[in-house]
Amino acid sequence: MFELKDATMIYDIDKEEKVYAMKGIDLVLPDKGLVGVIGPSGSGKSTMMYVLSTLKKLTGGDVTYNGESLNSISEKRCQELRRSEFGFVFQRHYLIPYMSALDNAVLASLDPVSKARSKAEAIFDDIGIKKSELSKIPAKLSGGQRQRVAIARAMMNDPRVLFADEPTASLDHENAYMVMDCLKEYSKDRLVIVITHDHSIIKDADMIVEMWDGTVSGIRKNGGEE
Ligand SMILES: Nc1ncnc2c1ncn2[C@@H]1O[C@H](COP(=O)(O)OP(=O)(O)O)[C@@H](O)[C@H]1O
Ligand SMILES: [Mg+2]
Repeated sequence: MFELKDATMIYDIDKEEKVYAMKGIDLVLPDKGLVGVIGPSGSGKSTMMYVLSTLKKLTGGDVTYNGESLNSISEKRCQELRRSEFGFVFQRHYLIPYMSALDNAVLASLDPVSKARSKAEAIFDDIGIKKSELSKIPAKLSGGQRQRVAIARAMMNDPRVLFADEPTASLDHENAYMVMDCLKEYSKDRLVIVITHDHSIIKDADMIVEMWDGTVSGIRKNGGEE
């Protein structure tokens, strides 16, 4: 589905102090499953996610999504992909503070409101948010619940790829595992890419990509070495 070939990303390319965030990465990601991207702060994890999700363009090499080069597509096509194929979850939930959990999810939908409402209710049920919580604003929910609402919002348009950048970094372990359970479930027939620097939350990943200083330093699939 995604293929990176000699993918290179240099920030401040026109300045004297260049930052090499991705250094000639070759990588193929599967169509579905849970992919963990792990590595220390500054190793290039977020940059790689931005490149895969069309938020940033490579400065060298190529990245393709289902054979389509993301380097050469128009901004309109990027928007189309982000709107209909990709979903995003970040470390912070970025929910709208004065809207209910339900309304936050409905807002993101491309469907008519009535359809979006029933879709949101079904997703909340799946990810263990009770009916009684749906009318609450984010401030009245726990950190774990808020993050699951953000995940529900990201799932509203059935993205084929869900990108999650440090989704559990501000959660305690119990909530982190609950969030990971939701993502693992979704990855049964979609691709979920989870960036983290915590090994314990991606122990059930189908593939683990280890990053180090702008390079892929290791790949593990289903517990086996490659
Ligand atoms: N917008 C930017 N401008 C300049 N340098 C950046 C920018 N974003 C990230 N970097 C640098 O690129 C490298 C990789 O960063 P990043 O992809 O955020 O790593 P990670 O997500 O693994 O912490 C780091 O050295 C970081 O300082
Ligand atoms: Mg990062």
